[in-house]
Amino acid sequence: MRKNRIGVLTGGGDCAGLNPAIKWVVKTALDERLMVGRRKQCEVVGIRDGWEGLINIESSIVPLNANIVRTWDRYGGTMLGTSRTNPYNLKNNCSRVVLTNIEKLELDSLVVIGGDDTLSVALKLSQEGVKIVGIPKTIDKDLCETDYTLGFETAVEVITEEVDRLRTTAGSHKRIFVVETMGRDAGWLALEGGESSGAFIILIPECDFSIERVNALVTEARSAGTRYEIIVVAEGAKPIGGTQFIRETGEDSFGHKRLGGIAELLAAEIQQSTKIETRSINLSHLQRGGTPCAYDRRMGRYFGIAAVDLLAHNEFGMMVCYRNGKITSSPFENVIGRMNCVDIETQYDVERYNGRHTIIGKEVRSRKV
Ligand code: F6P
Repeated sequence: MRKNRIGVLTGGGDCAGLNPAIKWVVKTALDERLMVGRRKQCEVVGIRDGWEGLINIESSIVPLNANIVRTWDRYGGTMLGTSRTNPYNLKNNCSRVVLTNIEKLELDSLVVIGGDDTLSVALKLSQEGVKIVGIPKTIDKDLCETDYTLGFETAVEVITEEVDRLRTTAGSHKRIFVVETMGRDAGWLALEGGESSGAFIILIPECDFSIERVNALVTEARSAGTRYEIIVVAEGAKPIGGTQFIRETGEDSFGHKRLGGIAELLAAEIQQSTKIETRSINLSHLQRGGTPCAYDRRMGRYFGIAAVDLLAHNEFGMMVCYRNGKITSSPFENVIGRMNCVDIETQYDVERYNGRHTIIGKEVRSRKV
């Protein structure tokens, strides 16, 4: 009997947590105990290099089984490779080729692991009738409908560890360090990385900052006797009245500009105004590297299992989510074209440019009094 053929691919920027998700898609789809309840036997094939692998299919298909993926959850990046290829790119629309290749490869369904860009393609293909489900991943954590996206926690660990390292050298030299994180237009990485590492100032895209205020905070701290300061700045943050820092002209196939460079400029401005020696560092792709932390391994596992559950229940056009402590799902339509940003009213301290300084709501506090 012909088996139900599931294709799995990873798209967009790589990160830790992708391999655990792939492993658990494969293991769950091939789990004999679960097959009893399903009418069809399954097979899983990996598709190399994201959507690129469905445009040029020669040597892009990798048969997967439990033995092949057994150790994958320990590794960072993606064993399947990835790309930022957009089949619906207006300058070169290859979506028909993708649809034809899905038929040629006899793929009955697809599990797509990606962020907003990759899942926006999944939405369009699902509107064309492809049976598809998504798993959220991005170190930016900017996807709606989910409280977690694979890769985020590992990236926060990297930020925390690197800031710990910087503290000893910053303290030895009485310097300020400006540390730039990724995150595009969302401040989650800077905010939670800064909170985890105990940064003195955290600057995020959701709140334009005043350079004068940054200088004043640093000067105040030095007068109070500090030896060094750590400032974490998101690549998408910008000064009041300024614009985001673009590293390169041009855009990728989803229309994104490459951000970066704010830390260097900010360090120069601070040094010039405060006369305190200031250095900058851009953590850049280090945040996407390394082995997945325990949380990403676990979440990759749960998301992988849930994706196959969705397929088994014929719930297509859905993204697996984690919301209020539960693994659930949401239609692609609810996710795409929206952005999950830091709420500066409740999650940020706009006065001291830092993480929230109060957590329990007013009504709860007054109840306790
Ligand atoms: O979306 C993930 C991300 O790491 C962003 O935080 C960053 O701006 C971008 O990708 C970098 O992309 P690339 O790997 O193409 O340089």
